[in-house]
Amino acid sequence: MVEVGYPSLEESQTATPVFSDSEIVELSNKYGTPIFLVDEETLVNRLNTLRRAYREYVGDVHVAYSMKANFNPSILQVFMRRGALFDITSVGELHFFTKSGGDVSRIIYTSVTEEENEFEKALKDGVRRFVVGSYNGLQNLVAAVNGSKKAVNVLIRINPEVAVKAVVRSACRNSKFGVPYSNGKKDSAPTLLKTILAEPLMSFEGFHFHLGSQIEDISCYVGALDRLEGFIERMKKQHPNLSVKIIDIGGGTPVFYGTPVPSPDEIGRIVSKRLNLFVERIGEKVTLVVESGRFLSTEASVLVTRVVNSKIYADQKFIYVDAGFHLLLDAALLHQSYPQYVLPRSFEDDSVKVKLAGRLCDSYDIFPLSQASDLKGADLGKIIVFQNVGAYSLVFGMPFHCQTKPPVFMRRLNGQFDLIRPAQKIEELYEEEGGALLQPQPSDYSQS
Ligand SMILES: Cc1ncc(COP(=O)(O)O)c(C=O)c1O
Repeated sequence: MVEVGYPSLEESQTATPVFSDSEIVELSNKYGTPIFLVDEETLVNRLNTLRRAYREYVGDVHVAYSMKANFNPSILQVFMRRGALFDITSVGELHFFTKSGGDVSRIIYTSVTEEENEFEKALKDGVRRFVVGSYNGLQNLVAAVNGSKKAVNVLIRINPEVAVKAVVRSACRNSKFGVPYSNGKKDSAPTLLKTILAEPLMSFEGFHFHLGSQIEDISCYVGALDRLEGFIERMKKQHPNLSVKIIDIGGGTPVFYGTPVPSPDEIGRIVSKRLNLFVERIGEKVTLVVESGRFLSTEASVLVTRVVNSKIYADQKFIYVDAGFHLLLDAALLHQSYPQYVLPRSFEDDSVKVKLAGRLCDSYDIFPLSQASDLKGADLGKIIVFQNVGAYSLVFGMPFHCQTKPPVFMRRLNGQFDLIRPAQKIEELYEEEGGALLQPQPSDYSQS
């Protein structure tokens, strides 16, 4: 296995180009634009970095790749080959995982809807570790487990109801995810725990929470662990044999898009310190699971586009690229700004204000500029590179305006570029969208 190094702290607070200018120009001339590029070395670096961040924790640490961020089979294989666990949320993701050669014992299956037929399918495929976050969901899992007669490990998804400062928050009161510590109702952690402990084919393994994505203030992790520790102490009084083997702190490790963010090391140090105290007090040997989609996959990828039109309007210069929010949905949905730069580079400081527009007929199809964006010299024919687009973007491709999906190339550790997703052809899109179902019709245009 080729070992690659870790990014420095400075690197985690800048949008350092992952590909050389000449690589980008050469590939875009050869294959056209838009194209996505992915760097295997950066994927490996980020996995190593996240693992190392929790080195001060006394117990075992596992990093789980949340494949919702990017389910490209070649990317999955990079993490599979390096022994990552996988956070899987749907039977579709499970299919991608197993077809790509994944080992089902590495899966933590966390469904949102928790349907019985979904659990049946997952059990049939060999999944044996589930996270549940509703009473009905647990009953569905019980039914599927009893039907299949397969023993499983179960974690409870808690909603710790702590304040979270993040781009996407998932742990606020009334969030759709998880159960509260207590509300006297069946959808609560004590009820779920009691039910799991009473099921002969279920082994209770521990607790899971997910606070949000792109977390900006790391104190929420400590707040969530404070509450969890108190809860475990109370539950141990009710269930003297209760044993907690896993604590899964979900995702949220942020990435630099233009403003400084906490580094994985800072998060790892603080979480490890708190958790070391926690495990000492509860007297257990607990394995820590850290999930991540964004941090593991974002910085490895760029979207290469070309300026296909420009227009001066009032004091603004509109630059139109051959991409749009159909390729980077979060740009419209969350006003996510990606650092962009222009190739060939220009060092002239033109004072005109640039608006970066996509090709869709939609007012939201304007790309927010990040503080790290540099659009000096953006003009017709030039290349615009969008950095840090690997998570929640490359996999969002949608055919709005009959737009096809661009190809994706991965730069392997030996420097070679491999095609890892072919370009979708317009004829394929037409057929998928129902064109293939059309019956030949005699033309009656002559009558009009
Ligand atoms: C349960 C769970 N774990 C992990 C993640 C990954 O979060 P991130 O990509 O911010 O690390 C998500 C994202 O939605 C999630 O829902």
